[in-house]
Amino acid sequence: MHHLFSLVRRHGGDILASPGMRRERDFVQHGNVSVFRHSLAVAMTCVKLARKLHLRVDERALVRGALLHDYFLYDWHDPDPSHRWHGFHHASTALRNARRDFALSPVEENMIASHMFPMSLPAPRFRESLLLWIADKWCAIGETVANRKKKPRRKPPSGDAGTPSA
Ligand SMILES: [Fe+2]
Ligand SMILES: [Fe+2]
Repeated sequence: MHHLFSLVRRHGGDILASPGMRRERDFVQHGNVSVFRHSLAVAMTCVKLARKLHLRVDERALVRGALLHDYFLYDWHDPDPSHRWHGFHHASTALRNARRDFALSPVEENMIASHMFPMSLPAPRFRESLLLWIADKWCAIGETVANRKKKPRRKPPSGDAGTPSA
């Protein structure tokens, strides 16, 4: 676990320390997990999966794309009309923000853009994109289930249409 975190920090230290990622700490993703913690968990899971499966990947791109995949920078539970259809739109919003704040490689761009496929296009084109797609769903399910166990009868916040939000 610790070595995974060191690796994420080595490849994505500048992202982790950025003002945008600091904002992510205040936005809840699933249950009571912030977008920041979710993104970090997804990045570590991506690396773990790639190593377990002995896949040849660009580890730096894998970490950076994963850290930035939910860089949409708003609270999607906020019932603001512009946040409607979050599940369908947030990948392109994340890509736009990430392009503005960081220099992205084509692999990183496709990772971010395709992580909600098939709810939004494009489709994953690289091994790194597929790994992110899997790790994101895996972590989202874990975060949601852990929260249900803690608060079994918690109602979803109003304004949340129940759109999947990984
Ligand atoms: Fe996600
Ligand atoms: Fe997402």
